Amino acid sequence: MSGKCEATGMSQENVSKYQYLHSHLTGTLEISEPSPDVLAGFVKPLQNTISSHSIHDSEIKRKDSLFNHLKKSVASKFPGSKLSAFGSAESGLSLKGGDFDLCLQIPDANEKKILKKIGGMLRGQGMEDVQIITGAKVPIVKFIDPRSGLHVDISINNTLALHNTRLLSSYANADSRVRELAICVKHWALHRNVSDSVNGTLSSYAWSILVISHLQEQGVIANLQSGDDRVVIELDDSDFDITINEENKIDAISDAKITHLLLSFFTNLAKRDWENDVISIRNGGSISRKEKGWKNENPSALDILNSEKEHPPRMGEHHLAIEDPFDLDHDLCRVVRPEGELRIRDELLRAAVLFGNGSTWKEICETVDSERLKNLEPVDIFHDLRDKSTESVQSMLEKTRGEMDALDRRIDALESERQSNLRMARAMRGIIEETSDLRKEHKSTIVRIKGRKSEIDEIKKKRDKINSDVILPIHMIEDELSKVYKRLTEELDIHRVPSLKKEKEQFSWFMELQAMHGKAREASELHQKFIELVTLQKEEIKKLKIYETKHDDATSKLLEQEPLLKDKNINSKEVGSYDRRVQNIQKALRQRRGEMHKLRREAGRLDAWLRKKSNPQQSNRNRSKRKGGRGKKQEKSSGPMTLGDISGLLSGMTSEPSSKRTRKVSSKKAGMRKMGNLSAHRGSRGHLKKKD
Ligand code: CTP
Ligand code: MG
Repeated sequence: MSGKCEATGMSQENVSKYQYLHSHLTGTLEISEPSPDVLAGFVKPLQNTISSHSIHDSEIKRKDSLFNHLKKSVASKFPGSKLSAFGSAESGLSLKGGDFDLCLQIPDANEKKILKKIGGMLRGQGMEDVQIITGAKVPIVKFIDPRSGLHVDISINNTLALHNTRLLSSYANADSRVRELAICVKHWALHRNVSDSVNGTLSSYAWSILVISHLQEQGVIANLQSGDDRVVIELDDSDFDITINEENKIDAISDAKITHLLLSFFTNLAKRDWENDVISIRNGGSISRKEKGWKNENPSALDILNSEKEHPPRMGEHHLAIEDPFDLDHDLCRVVRPEGELRIRDELLRAAVLFGNGSTWKEICETVDSERLKNLEPVDIFHDLRDKSTESVQSMLEKTRGEMDALDRRIDALESERQSNLRMARAMRGIIEETSDLRKEHKSTIVRIKGRKSEIDEIKKKRDKINSDVILPIHMIEDELSKVYKRLTEELDIHRVPSLKKEKEQFSWFMELQAMHGKAREASELHQKFIELVTLQKEEIKKLKIYETKHDDATSKLLEQEPLLKDKNINSKEVGSYDRRVQNIQKALRQRRGEMHKLRREAGRLDAWLRKKSNPQQSNRNRSKRKGGRGKKQEKSSGPMTLGDISGLLSGMTSEPSSKRTRKVSSKKAGMRKMGNLSAHRGSRGHLKKKD
């Protein structure tokens, strides 16, 4: 067994891959208690993480407007159906840019058929990356809305999820630390790549349940599922107890701070003896395995890892046992694969160790697979301005506005150039269309003339050939024929001695004349035809000239109305070249408008920073005032500003220097573009996710 750890059976490669877990299993891992100073150092970074994930009005608006659109365009096509939002967007436990989970409730539905139908509708609407996933526990259709950039999952009759979302939402409303801890844990899990049920780790939902279980055990929140009045519903012939008692309280509520709660979350879970019990928020935190009836089955994740078999057996169930609060037979760790389980345990131990050894929050959350999280991290959009003086930001703003004005002029010039080219192309096309009947006639006459010309040439050639072979004209042949015939058929002159030789000569001459006559007649018919065709040809050429004159007259009349086209060649090729010019200008305009959009955004950013600096209180008040409706779930943001925030600022900005600028883009379009471009969304993460 050389190269393998004797205690754990792990290969050297796996010992270093799961170094914290290995040390833990061999009893050599030290998890120190951080000093109060070290803990105090976590306060600000954790607050920054929490506020950077607060959901801005603009994101709520985007979700609402997409929801309404889907309700009208999709749900209304299924009579008796109801579309509802669920998941973190509804519970308030969402990271910024989280996906949008929707459920369509339809009585007696054939889910797969309906998902396919919805998929078709969404593709028809221009939704991107539409995928129908039927292999998962909950079949879904997932897609990206290109206007808002939102990643959406629609499931059918996922009724329990609506109820468990309500439960999570009730917990989030019960104590602000629920959301705060959930955000910190989800943020960490996302960056350490242990929150991806499709790839064998826990779902985001499971991490929320772990957070709630921890807060119940820490005395922060009560068990909201306990109480005497029970609400039971029947779904697919099974009963589900969906009781939620929002009024449930605990007597002595803990005042533990989020830093302590996060530290204990990591250390408790890292050191947890999963052999003993099952996470159960329904039971106030956990429940014994015996009571639950879930055994920690073999083979373990480590057995599978150490197995030398090419096809190791299937891993046993219920290792990181987490009971679903309503679907009590559902263990949320069912999706976890051996490697995922070991990584989750290793990561929890790592976080606990790093917390205690003076590492920073940033180090604890160091991104494992940055490619996967591209575009995810909400950025502090003021990071480059923080060290600058007000004057220098002001001069940056002036400069940006100057560039905007110059660009505006360039856009104007391009726009008028585009208009004039468009007018030319349209005018030319108009003339071409107006005179098209004449040109059609002209063209078909030319075609006929050409065809006839070759027929005439052919006939002439044949006629001339015969004429050159037959030396006598037809009338002479006929005279001669009748003479010879007479001679051959007249009464014999008894006074003359008959000559056989002469008779023979006369006969052969007669035959020859007969052949010549046939040919000459053919030549004469050909000649007749030739004359007819030439006459027709002359008439057609005359017609051609008439068409040309008519065409010229019509064109010059039209040209009088459109002087732009004077001295221009008017033909389809030329129209094509104007069309191409219009397209090129259009392309340049799009580019310039993109630049303008960036400049406007930059001006908005600089302006927002100056306003924030000159009156930080006001700026905060305005922002929190705007957070109505779902505001309960949102935080006053004192941390770094995100792209979503700047999007909100821009939509509320009135200091646009040129009114001309806003006039040009229709408000609807501008809004769409603004939302689409400014949203920081999760990049590939949304793609990877699937419900377990
Ligand atoms: N869900 C469930 N059972 C699971 C996984 C998910 O019922 N095993 C439901 C829950 O209602 C959950 C929703 O599906 O809230 C969405 O799941 P998920 O996207 O994993 O969690 P979110 O809370 O939406 O997290 P995120 O912000 O990462 O999307
Ligand atoms: Mg979700």
